[in-house]
Parts: sequence; structure tokens; C-alpha cells
Amino acid sequence: MTVERTLAAIKPDALEKGIIGELCKRIEDANLKIVAMRMQHLDRARAEGFYAVHKGKAFFDSLVKFMTSGPCVVMVLEGENAIAKWRETMGSTNPEEAAEGTIRCDFGTNIERNAVHGSDAPDTAKFEIAYFFEPNEIVKYEWV
Ligand code: CMP
Repeated sequence: MTVERTLAAIKPDALEKGIIGELCKRIEDANLKIVAMRMQHLDRARAEGFYAVHKGKAFFDSLVKFMTSGPCVVMVLEGENAIAKWRETMGSTNPEEAAEGTIRCDFGTNIERNAVHGSDAPDTAKFEIAYFFEPNEIVKYEWV
């Protein structure tokens, strides 16, 4: 069993839709435990740093504008194969291509305003979790 951690973010479009609770339920229903969580309104530098890997791409400036347009919820999720499981729960980046029943299919507006973010690999997860959380902000508890 590979217990992993991944970074999840609920983006400003999802907050506007009032679906934080629905998305947390989907996370827990996927057997992913929320072990850190914070609401945060990213400023430009914070958003640019988070998405630095996309700097130079055509959508970068628009993405940063969107991600700074309102608050996000950032979380650390823990569970077996958490990285792949969260990506499966989210669905494809483009909501038009996302499988039925996935978050992006149900709540995404377009390829930019796609409701949620998730780390795509172990290295990225490590970077992204450390970008938002100190180790002592990540908690331990058991489901019984
Ligand atoms: P996310 O999974 O957070 O990773 C990068 C984000 O850039 C993506 O979700 C979208 O919000 C946004 N984005 C906008 N246009 C594109 C695109 N053409 N390809 C990938 N991501 C895009």
C-alpha cells in the first residue's frame, strides 16, 4: 500500500458557485483524508510562483488573473495512491473532455475555470505542498 500526499486546491470559480462542501464530500468519498486546509486569496506573486512551470505559455497571464480573482481553498490530501486518485476524482483539465461524474465534468466552466487543481506527480506534490504548508500544519488523525 502506497500512502501518498497530494496538494488540492478549490479554485475561485468553485467558491463563487458555493460548492466547497460538495467538493470536500467528494474528496472524503474517494477515501482521501484532508490533513491540512486553509482559505487563501493568492496575490500575483504567489500565483505566479505556484504556476511557474507554465510561465511563458499562452494561458499563463490569464490563469494568474483568474487565480487571483478571489480566494481559493488549499488542502493536503492523504491516502492510498492519493495523487492518481485525486486526479481521477477531478477529471481531465478540460471539462469538455472530463469523464461523467468527475468534478470538472460536473462543475468546470472551461479549461481555465476548471474548479479544482491537483498535483500531477510525486515531485510536484512535494513542491506544491511545501509551497502552501509548513510540516507542522499537516495533522494526523484516524478514521474509525
Ligand atoms: P490546473 O490543473 O490547475 O493546471 C494548470 C491550469 O492552467 C489548469 O488547471 C487550468 O486552470 C489552466 N489552463 C488554462 N488553459 C490551459 C490549457 N490550454 N492547458 C492546460 N491548462 C490550462
